Amino acid sequence: MGQLDGKIAVITGAGSGIGLAVAERFAEEGAEVVLVGRQKERLDEAAARIGGGARGESVDVGEEEQVRALMEGLPRVDILATFAGKAVFGPVDELPPSAWKDLFHSRFFGQIHAVHHALPKMGKGSVILLCSGIADAAYVPDYAGGAAICGAVNAMGKNLAVELAPREIRVNVLSPGFIIATDIKFNLEDEKAIDFVKRSIADTPLPYHGYPKDLADAALFLATCNFVTGQVIEVDGGWTAA
Ligand SMILES: NC(=O)c1ccc[n+]([C@@H]2O[C@H](COP(=O)([O-])OP(=O)(O)OC[C@H]3O[C@@H](n4cnc5c(N)ncnc54)[C@H](OP(=O)(O)O)[C@@H]3O)[C@@H](O)[C@H]2O)c1
Repeated sequence: MGQLDGKIAVITGAGSGIGLAVAERFAEEGAEVVLVGRQKERLDEAAARIGGGARGESVDVGEEEQVRALMEGLPRVDILATFAGKAVFGPVDELPPSAWKDLFHSRFFGQIHAVHHALPKMGKGSVILLCSGIADAAYVPDYAGGAAICGAVNAMGKNLAVELAPREIRVNVLSPGFIIATDIKFNLEDEKAIDFVKRSIADTPLPYHGYPKDLADAALFLATCNFVTGQVIEVDGGWTAA
């Protein structure tokens, strides 16, 4: 018997990386998973491979109307996990404010859209897993906008945990450190990208890399441990502890 038998789990950003690993893990535990992203073909391929009622839904989470239509079409949402996002780097006096706004549009408001429109379908015992990142708690160069999103998501997650506790809906935040083997899109050119990777590895105390499966382990814990709410779980190899 799976730990998530009979649950419907909606996972955004599930076409690749962390979201996909979480969808696979939840499905292994018996959940019927709805994989959300913009590239329908790879969502469908993943859903076919996963089986067990998995299906792909092409939705841009930054577009509220699309998110509303997705949630309205579901009988209920037992688990909502929001991993859709990208990263944008740049010195504050070089990167135009419109780039930060664009990032907030999908990565921050995408999570608000999902929570707002999933909640009418969420009953007692439902679970919300948001995604931030270590930049709220550790310095990442040229990443003020990303850091702001991480902080905003962490604050929102803690506040929502208390707001939704009387309804017995738990809310937690997964905060990845440097996770390899994902498709994450960012705007660093060759040399700067190499510097970023080297620095991130140096900032991680554990002498090995983090993978999407590590986030899937944490997500399953948060999806199943009934008395944990309002927490930000750093899955970062010790980066924020150092
Ligand atoms: N990897 C890391 O080291 C790291 C560290 C800290 C935080 N994070 C955060 O963790 C989350 C997952 O990242 P990842 O590393 O797994 O990267 P990833 O492999 O690129 O996964 C992100 C997914 O989000 C989807 N997506 C992006 N914008 C979307 C939108 N507007 N609407 C719907 N789907 C959208 C992408 O698919 P489509 O392009 O098909 O839509 C992609 O499958 C992101 O929010 C990222 O910022 C990652």
